[in-house]
Amino acid sequence: MTSHLLDKLKRPFSDLRISVTDRCNFRCQYCMPKDIFGSDYSFLPHDQLLTFEEITRFVNAIAPLGLRKVRITGGEPLVRKNVEDLVGMLRSAHPDLEIALTTNGSLLPQKAQKLKEKGVNRVTVSLDSLEDEVFMALNDAQFPVSKVLDGIRAAEENDLLPIKINMVVKRGVNEKSILPMAEYFRERGHILRFIEYMDVGSTNGWNMADVVPAREILKLIHAVYPLEPVEPDQPSDVAKRWKYQDGRGVIGMIASVTDPFCGDCTRLRLSAPGELFTCLFSNKGHDIKALLRGGAPDRELANFVASLWSGRSDNYSQTRSREDSQPGDKVEMSYIGG
Ligand code: GTP
Ligand code: 5AD
Ligand code: SF4
Ligand code: SF4
Repeated sequence: MTSHLLDKLKRPFSDLRISVTDRCNFRCQYCMPKDIFGSDYSFLPHDQLLTFEEITRFVNAIAPLGLRKVRITGGEPLVRKNVEDLVGMLRSAHPDLEIALTTNGSLLPQKAQKLKEKGVNRVTVSLDSLEDEVFMALNDAQFPVSKVLDGIRAAEENDLLPIKINMVVKRGVNEKSILPMAEYFRERGHILRFIEYMDVGSTNGWNMADVVPAREILKLIHAVYPLEPVEPDQPSDVAKRWKYQDGRGVIGMIASVTDPFCGDCTRLRLSAPGELFTCLFSNKGHDIKALLRGGAPDRELANFVASLWSGRSDNYSQTRSREDSQPGDKVEMSYIGG
């Protein structure tokens, strides 16, 4: 039975983002800047991470609250050993659940087939430029574009479709990559999404001047390849979609800064060490690991989450400019999973 659990702003619960690790093999400047996440940074020790059994128990417990979609994230989710086994466990308990994964693509050549076999429906791959110089300056890990493209190809070959490509746009860094990226992916049937650089966490030195507004990106593309809006599938989609008038593909705009979408936010986030967050910009999570390790039965877990959701009123992106909305030290993106 599915209940219609609504929060204080009448938003239903339907999605869970699960971060399986706080580690990553990249050091994207907008997410894990190397001067903070350097060789002396203390990542979580393994025994503090939720086990796959614990994550599965949690998902089983809250599934009746209306859960429709799970997204596996990180850090980089594919650096968590055997993450495909978690997918297998979730899939056998929930044959109809949508299971997606957001990755930097680097390990997809090795992992795509296993992910498909275990039950991932589709993947989203982050790629910020087709030019090595620009991409490497952003990922700060000397990782070349060609290897991410290999990852995307592996996802294609294993039918992890539709593939979405996430491009975070940062002023003065990769603006010139917008058109080449649009051009490249429109020919290939993948959905390229342009993401406004967000003020998530407190280490990336975010500044409004570094944000390229979605409308500016649209204008740039529309001038070369005319676009028209596409009706949304799901009101909770973070991306507004546009299609090329010549029928050669679809793009998305994720304008969390200039056109926030809190009004339709249906998401909860479970961090790798088992805290549950009601917003990407929260500074405080709720301790699910203690409940799981203390032997709480499924009903208690479900009641806990139901009451958390019922009391939820987060809408950070809509109020970010108000000084009193600043929540203090926000949780890092690599910890909470984007
Ligand atoms: P699908 O629509 O299912 O394909 O996934 P998604 O776009 O929700 O997930 P993805 O991991 O690809 O995230 C894309 C971008 O949207 C990232 O920059 C996320 O941080 C951002 N994002 C996802 N959910 C939220 C949200 O609830 N609030 C805000 N502000 N940003 C979000
Ligand atoms: N602003 C916007 N998007 C970000 N991502 C990581 N950090 C930021 C940020 N500061 C993106 C990643 C990935 C997705 C989960 O979030 O590129 O595609
Ligand atoms: Fe890693 Fe993704 Fe963050 Fe880049 S954006 S550092 S790939 S988790
Ligand atoms: Fe949801 Fe918070 Fe993002 Fe708004 S800012 S869409 S409430 S996660």
